[in-house]
Amino acid sequence: FLKEEEVLDKAEIWAQKYLHAHPVWFGSFSAILVISDPDYAKAVLARGDPKDNVSYKHLVPWIGNGLLILHGPKWHQHRKLLTPGFHYDVLKPYVALMAESTNVMLDKWDKLVTDGKPVELFEHVSLMTLDSIMKCAFSCHSNCQTNRKNTYIQAVYDLCLMVHQRLRIFPYHNDIIYWLSPHGFRFRKACQLAHDHTDKVIHERKESLKDEQEFEKVQKKRHLDFLDILLCARDENGAALSDEDLRAEVDTFMFEGHDTTASGIAWLFYCLASHPEHQARCREEIQGILGDRQTIQWEDLGKMTYSTMCIKESLRLYPPVPGVSRQLSKPITFSDGRTLVVGEDLGKMTYSTMCIKESLRLYPPVPGVSRQLSKPITFSDGRTLRSVFDPSRFSPENISGRHSHAFLPFSAGTRNCIGQQFAMNEMKVALALTLLRFELLPDPTKPPLKIPQIILRSKNGIHLSLKKIR
Ligand code: HEM
Repeated sequence: FLKEEEVLDKAEIWAQKYLHAHPVWFGSFSAILVISDPDYAKAVLARGDPKDNVSYKHLVPWIGNGLLILHGPKWHQHRKLLTPGFHYDVLKPYVALMAESTNVMLDKWDKLVTDGKPVELFEHVSLMTLDSIMKCAFSCHSNCQTNRKNTYIQAVYDLCLMVHQRLRIFPYHNDIIYWLSPHGFRFRKACQLAHDHTDKVIHERKESLKDEQEFEKVQKKRHLDFLDILLCARDENGAALSDEDLRAEVDTFMFEGHDTTASGIAWLFYCLASHPEHQARCREEIQGILGDRQTIQWEDLGKMTYSTMCIKESLRLYPPVPGVSRQLSKPITFSDGRTLVVGEDLGKMTYSTMCIKESLRLYPPVPGVSRQLSKPITFSDGRTLRSVFDPSRFSPENISGRHSHAFLPFSAGTRNCIGQQFAMNEMKVALALTLLRFELLPDPTKPPLKIPQIILRSKNGIHLSLKKIR
């Protein structure tokens, strides 16, 4: 096994070496096929294959069979039900809520930075994005950023780590062995904590909807918030969503809706701290848009052109969801005529036929975009041009004519990220308000080590120095 912190770099090296796809073996009996060609990715994502039955399976005891895991008609029904929750009329008022949550975080930083010591930001940002998703999607004002230590955030960290460990320790793939092990015991305990949190949120919203005024307010809305959609949903027979389905969707969105954006924002701050010239350019752009205003509005987000380029470049280098996988249900022929056959021995692979026993994994953004650069330059410190933070890769000239599937931080096709607009808005709001108040500086003594634990994290956190500028 590779060390955790080597996995993504190695994936990039292999993607450079094997331009279309390559198998990765786990021991001598299990393999996945890793795809790095945008055309291949397009072919796979256009189909309706289910999620692979190894990696996602271990998430089920925690997030249940919600939108991320579901397949077939039930997935279709839930996706249709929940899509209006991300309509721009719904997203618009969220900008003020996101700004409020970001300002709570920045007020905390104001008090923290008096001694000039670097701060570990990942946890701060996670609490901020949790606060924000709870307010936006669940109408729940929890004050989780200022309340005592948040047990839900800790449980999410532990659960991601344990799902990742379970994948890497083969005997733990067996349910009986896992649930009887100390790991299984810890997993159950963390699940219980996470479920207690989501149960409380559902219960509180159900109670508040018993209030006639609140219920009338909701009924008058043209587009409902996420949790209200779920609570008000009725099928053709007038039946409400089952408690199990409701809980699965709430657990899925509670996790996906905050941990991914926390990773995106924390790594973005790290990129800009390490590249002061780009940080200064974003700040200038934001000051130009906001003028004397100290808060940000929906209309401002579309004007943040350079900042958006920086966000995309950060997502390319540090994708919050580093890989997605599918269980191929039938053979697939790619645009170059090569065929991928399922359930065969990988040893029988020929140039025109690739065989696969298990799942198909895509490491989407990193290897894809790099193929757009004709000649990667290697610097004396070993970095290649592909790994250099260069927002101009996303300038209008450079993206025109680029393959539609060369940059896939939010995946693509029918199973793309339902929350991508929400996520981009939150990253822009957090970036704008932070750069107005602080200069971000790197901490050379603690460079982050990227590890893919379902969500991209840093093994040693993300430490930055903060300098007040207002
Ligand atoms: C920077 C932030 C985010 C990134 C990079 C991201 C990325 C992704 C990716 C790559 C997928 C495909 C997963 C797969 O095929 O297995 C996905 C799916 C999904 N995402 Fe996101 N996501 C982000 C934010 C969000 C937010 C804020 C929400 C909710 C508010 C969300 C909810 C979901 C859901 C429910 C799915 C499953 C959709 C389906 O299969 O129909 N994500 N996301």
